[in-house]
Amino acid sequence: MTERTILAQSLSRIKPSPTMAVTQKARELSANGIDIISLGAGEPDFDTPDNIKNAAIEAIRRGETKYTNVDGMPEIKQAICEKFNRENELTYETAQVSVAPGGKAIIYNAMMATLDPGDEVIIPRPYWVSYPDIVLLAGGSPVFVNATLKQGFRLQPEELEQAITKKTKWLIFNSPSNPSGAAYRREQLKMLTDVLIRHPHVWVLSDDMYEHLVYDDFVFVTPAQVEPGLIDRTLTMNGVSKAYAMTGWRIGYAAGPKNLIKAMAKVQSQSTSNPSTISQWAAVEALNGPQDFIADRARVFKERRDLIVSLLNHAKGLQCPIPEGAFYVYPSCAGVIGKTAPSGKVIETDGDFAAELLDAEAVSVVHGEAFGLSPFFRISYATSTEALLEAGQRIQRFCAGLT
Ligand SMILES: Cc1ncc(COP(=O)(O)O)c(C=O)c1O
Repeated sequence: MTERTILAQSLSRIKPSPTMAVTQKARELSANGIDIISLGAGEPDFDTPDNIKNAAIEAIRRGETKYTNVDGMPEIKQAICEKFNRENELTYETAQVSVAPGGKAIIYNAMMATLDPGDEVIIPRPYWVSYPDIVLLAGGSPVFVNATLKQGFRLQPEELEQAITKKTKWLIFNSPSNPSGAAYRREQLKMLTDVLIRHPHVWVLSDDMYEHLVYDDFVFVTPAQVEPGLIDRTLTMNGVSKAYAMTGWRIGYAAGPKNLIKAMAKVQSQSTSNPSTISQWAAVEALNGPQDFIADRARVFKERRDLIVSLLNHAKGLQCPIPEGAFYVYPSCAGVIGKTAPSGKVIETDGDFAAELLDAEAVSVVHGEAFGLSPFFRISYATSTEALLEAGQRIQRFCAGLT
């Protein structure tokens, strides 16, 4: 007889966030006195700027500590409309805007509001770890399309075309990408929107979370901007977590067609209710206040990117392309598969590589399998230059010692 369990069957379809698990393990090892360099976390090491903190403190002092509209107060919706207009050439009214406790909650609300069993969602791999699990939790079926190293980790139009079926409801599009850092230039994105325009039943969720973290001469664009014909079936999502170093404040937002926004508010009204009022006021200041620090921080990230890419490309058996944005690199470890680690274990997968690297050199990275494309691993370079330098040297030593 099978044991009765309190846990729902739907939960068995998903797994806890692997990136959070890696960060947690590194924290535990650190607490035990091991000199870990953790390159697993997906958050900027910078602090939230003071003007944003002060806006939150003032909001508390003014007594702005009550419930707001379920999907955001008018002031933040207005600030978001202005942001889309100013930065993305997109015109939305406040009724087309949704604010949630984090970008992740926006995606969750959108999937819960739209997916029926059997509905398919196209997800390019490597993907941000939460996309497939949110789709599964909402009862949909993820359909994966590889965006390989050879393709610069970018989804190709013909492969998108092939993946579309009658059941396709969404494409989840993410540029710059977590985990690869790859981003699409206007002409590259246009080739994808040209495919989408031919399939009017397919919607696009564009996750623009890393919009401001792009380097060199890269110019960020988003699908509804490149192809205005998609505006009625695009949810353009963003948030303050990465650009404004506000991961703990939990504010994400999106704009799209009114009926979808209303349905997402319905989901939120019976789950979290409004995102923290204080955080909403902080985000109003983030969006309306000075923006110049973002470019200063992006310059620092670019230097770190160049450093870590160079260190990795000097490690035996690794190959690391230069990504356009975000704060991740996604090197291939194909050249070390089959080799033997100092422990005597043969490295058969990127999971083995990450585990052996952690054991031998106390460097924590996330294995590519977590993002759906192997054999790779993800490094977050949102950490100090000294830590990156040390980590790069440890990785080089580890790779050189493999036999
Ligand atoms: C691609 C991408 N989208 C969304 C999110 C979610 O961000 P938030 O912390 O606002 O929920 C993340 C966070 O890691 C991310 O990398």
